[in-house]
Amino acid sequence: MNDFRLYTPTQIVFGRGAEEQAGQLIRSFGGTRVLVHYGGRSARDSGLLDRVLRCLDGAGLPHAELGGAVPNPRLSKVREGIRLCREEGVDFLLAVGGGSVIDSCKAIGYGVPREGDVWELFEGTARPAACLPIGCVLTLAAAGSEMSDSCVITNEEGWKKRGVNSDLCRLRFAALNPELTYTLPPYQTACGCTDILYHTMERYFSGPEESEPTDSMAEGLMRAVLRAAPRALEDPRDYEARACIMWAGSLSHNGLTGCGRGGNGRIGDWASHQLEHELSGMFDVAHGAGLAALWGSWARYVMDAAPERFARFARNVMGTAPGGDSREEALAGIAALENFLRSIGMPVNIRELGVELDEENIRQLAWKCSFEGKRTIGSIKILDREDMEEIYRRAK
Ligand code: NZQ
Ligand code: ZN
Repeated sequence: MNDFRLYTPTQIVFGRGAEEQAGQLIRSFGGTRVLVHYGGRSARDSGLLDRVLRCLDGAGLPHAELGGAVPNPRLSKVREGIRLCREEGVDFLLAVGGGSVIDSCKAIGYGVPREGDVWELFEGTARPAACLPIGCVLTLAAAGSEMSDSCVITNEEGWKKRGVNSDLCRLRFAALNPELTYTLPPYQTACGCTDILYHTMERYFSGPEESEPTDSMAEGLMRAVLRAAPRALEDPRDYEARACIMWAGSLSHNGLTGCGRGGNGRIGDWASHQLEHELSGMFDVAHGAGLAALWGSWARYVMDAAPERFARFARNVMGTAPGGDSREEALAGIAALENFLRSIGMPVNIRELGVELDEENIRQLAWKCSFEGKRTIGSIKILDREDMEEIYRRAK
């Protein structure tokens, strides 16, 4: 087992009506003027936004509002939020929405106390030094941003999607009410479940280190999501299925499923995520669907580096019958996961994602993903620009 550090300071308030505690929670963390940030229509249409604003009024908290965070959240909206927070003297950010709204809040939180341009943090030319405190009312179980140290923003200039990781942006609290996810369209539910699975898988398919408690938790979490996803799709108001997905979403990306495991300098593999971020940055597709479209190609490309690991995944997560050598078991597990993805309406290649890639697209995607040929990605197998091109090509 590797040495590790687990820092997961976010207070979770889980269950029906959790959002009603937002005002009191903000007060308990010292907030006095709040920016309520949300997305397009869903929070307003469902009446959630009005309920949250009333709750802040009830707690005596003045607030400004900023809607319009879009999926693959944009830098221009972050800049608008930074200006608004400075004008209004905001000292606490409340995200009402999914991963895009939370990430937009995190970037605003980094930007307000900063003198330089916030994008420098995403370019990696500067490190975050401070962040406004943030809480959330989660409406979509997927990205795990409510407990993660990560923030992913798309710069419309050049359609670059970049992430920055730091404990400074970890949320003070997350109000998780599974009922708020009843209104999700089936496609978003499926994308969310896919992303949740892959947050655990990125850590599971990493270095050779043993960490049996972590592996067992990871396998249990993945099995739970595999069981709950079809239930939530069949009956969107199945509370237990929604609750399972929501809690699994947070646990899958708060660091727990990486404890003691390895990676190439950081915990986890993350190649699939990095390859996907270029896809959703360039073609504005849903992140979970992009992962589904790429993963099989990545898995078949790298599996010979760790066939035993893939075989264990096949047996313990996908429940495929043992038989043949590790390689055959590994391939059966990959195919079983693809069948599951198809069954919940996810694409298993890029054409099914609705994108027709040509050779020039492939070259550009790999160029961006490799930071213009300057970085490699992955840990189970280190991938350079040519490997990236080949994975995109095989995923077509
Ligand atoms: O904008 P509205 O109208 O609210 O609609 C949203 C949006 O169109 C809708 N939605 C959300 N809650 C709903 C709902 N519709 C009906 N009922 C509800 N209760 O769902 C759509 C997608 O929302 P979005 O927030 O974009 O989805 P998600 O949570 O999957 O977030 C995706 C973003 O997070 C990033 C992704 O790359 C992507 O940009 N990620 C962030 C991570 C992190 N910070 O830790 C890790 C992830 O790996 C990921 O990269
Ligand atoms: Zn993800």
